[in-house]
Amino acid sequence: MEYSNIIVETRGRVGLITLNRPKAMNALNDQLIDEVGYALDGFEKDENIGAIVITGSEKAFAAGADIGAMANYSHMDAYKGDYITRNWERLRTCRKPIIAAVAGFALGGGCELAMMCDMIFAADTAKFGQPEIKLGVLPGAGGTQRLPRAIGKAKAMDMCLTARMMDATEAERAGLVARIIPADRLVDEAIEAATVIAGFSLPVIMMIKESVNRAYESSLSEGLLFERRTFHSAFGLEDQKEGMAAFVEKRKPVFKHR
Ligand code: HXC
Repeated sequence: MEYSNIIVETRGRVGLITLNRPKAMNALNDQLIDEVGYALDGFEKDENIGAIVITGSEKAFAAGADIGAMANYSHMDAYKGDYITRNWERLRTCRKPIIAAVAGFALGGGCELAMMCDMIFAADTAKFGQPEIKLGVLPGAGGTQRLPRAIGKAKAMDMCLTARMMDATEAERAGLVARIIPADRLVDEAIEAATVIAGFSLPVIMMIKESVNRAYESSLSEGLLFERRTFHSAFGLEDQKEGMAAFVEKRKPVFKHR
């Protein structure tokens, strides 16, 4: 596929997607999200890829859904075509871990895109917000659902109802962000972390992602049961034998199923 809105690269065992609509602050249109989905398909099939990083530019991770593209939609357009959010689910179904490396603005759909990833690394320049209310709409790609889960109801209401932005420090303190990184090191550090992940056993990486995500979909006892069953199933992996043998023999493990 010819990409015109993103740049797709690999760095060792890491797949790197860079959102690339600089003139529009990486505003997210259907085509861009289609391209992200296509790139994820490729990385998911590629046995040499163990983790993925999605980033934007220094100025903007993404300033939201493309306002110009959706400004004149009717309800029927939006509903019938499942416009704007139709293809976003692909991010959620990716089984390999995705790190969002966010510098500058992550607003509206940009903040939602970052939250669909498995963790967010923020540059010290990052600004998160759900300003849809200013446009006469509400978040439509998970903002009202993932924000309260990440930062609690009080701050989620504050952000969605007042449209105020949250800087990196506040976002980290509130639990939205895993790490704050100096802007000039952001992508390198995200790739380094993704490389660490990609060095482990891929089935175990996927089991961990599934189990952590289960915490958001189930009661504690259901989640604990899911984790326990998955933990037991890990003993069926050659990589479990290798990982534990390597520890006992005081050497580095060589995981086969990467
Ligand atoms: C289309 C956008 C855009 C967007 C910025 N641009 N955000 N175009 N959709 N979401 C364009 C501007 O029109 C402008 O184009 C160029 O990018 C630079 O933006 P400026 O506004 O000139 O830059 P600046 O003054 O630095 O302000 C940056 C900003 C502001 C704070 C990010 O652009 C802004 O508030 N953008 C809108 C943010 C927003 O409301 N996001 C939510 C969208 S709704 P020109 O051609 O004039 O140079 C949403 C719903 C999600 O996301 C639903 C589910 C997917």
